[in-house]
Amino acid sequence: MEASFPRARGRRNRSHEGRRILVAEHELKASDLIAPLFLTEGVNICEPIESIEGYNRLSVDLAVKKAEEWRALGIVSTLLFVKVPDSKKDNMGKEALNPDGLMQKAIRALKKAIPEMVVFSDVALDPYSTYGHDGIVDSDRILNDETNEVLAQMALSHAEAGVDYVAPSDMMDGRIQVIRDALEEHGYTDTGIMAYSAKYASGFYGPFRDALDSAPGFGDKKSYQMDYRNVKEAVREAQMDEREGADIIMVKPGMPYLDVVRAVAEKVSLPVAAYNVSGEYAMIKAAAEKGWLDEDAAMIESLMAFKRAGAGLIATYWAEKAAKFID
Ligand code: PBG
Repeated sequence: MEASFPRARGRRNRSHEGRRILVAEHELKASDLIAPLFLTEGVNICEPIESIEGYNRLSVDLAVKKAEEWRALGIVSTLLFVKVPDSKKDNMGKEALNPDGLMQKAIRALKKAIPEMVVFSDVALDPYSTYGHDGIVDSDRILNDETNEVLAQMALSHAEAGVDYVAPSDMMDGRIQVIRDALEEHGYTDTGIMAYSAKYASGFYGPFRDALDSAPGFGDKKSYQMDYRNVKEAVREAQMDEREGADIIMVKPGMPYLDVVRAVAEKVSLPVAAYNVSGEYAMIKAAAEKGWLDEDAAMIESLMAFKRAGAGLIATYWAEKAAKFID
């Protein structure tokens, strides 16, 4: 039987710092954090991203320097996104397959300069799409199986460049299997897949779409990204991706979806990651700027909440700040 007051007093274990450290159930490490990196073409370019405060779009040379700084802080992984000039966009994502494209160049440069850094690459058509959609568009439909073929080619070209994990963020059905089969067939047996298994159609992606100029040109993403009324469906998506050959399962967004993180973490045996997305970051940044809350406190509390919910990995724009804080 549970003891009751006054024999039981919850405050005994909280009464000073040493005791609190001793009984803490969760810990946040710099190596839990995946730092997103936004790339742009050119040399020595650092363009501030207004909507993701403190973040810049970097050319490959500066991106390597940034990743070296992160590595020195104990961050071991980075997730790459590219901004593609309009002149290179089309409906089929042709530029995504360019072996000398920005993503491929960045992967090569990062793995050469910092081989121990774990490099994740975003795999989806939206930054390359004239329509800003994650798949090939046919009048008002987003084609599934045709898109999968392009995603598999894209994954292969990232694997060829030496990426550690491809990260399909598109939510097409069956893409993990198609990508896994392509990697196996071509001998890339060690290339990992971090599947955005439960990615919701969310209002919290706004600042990111600004950063990459990737907002959908028509309609929304609800025919492929998940409906936020559902949680069982997230578990099913994660289990399918697990069977199809994923190595890490991602839930996105993060903070408003911690119940989903928990549900997925209980039902899959693969590592679970959560994406603390741009809108979540922007809310706290904006409130802190107004002096309404303390950014460091809200940041660490939020990141710890991901761990508590069952995410071992957290993709976050706070990676650098949090790593310094932990240090
Ligand atoms: C698209 C993609 C998005 C994000 C990561 N990959 C936006 C979208 O689905 O429109 C959002 C990340 C963030 O908001 O921080 N493939």
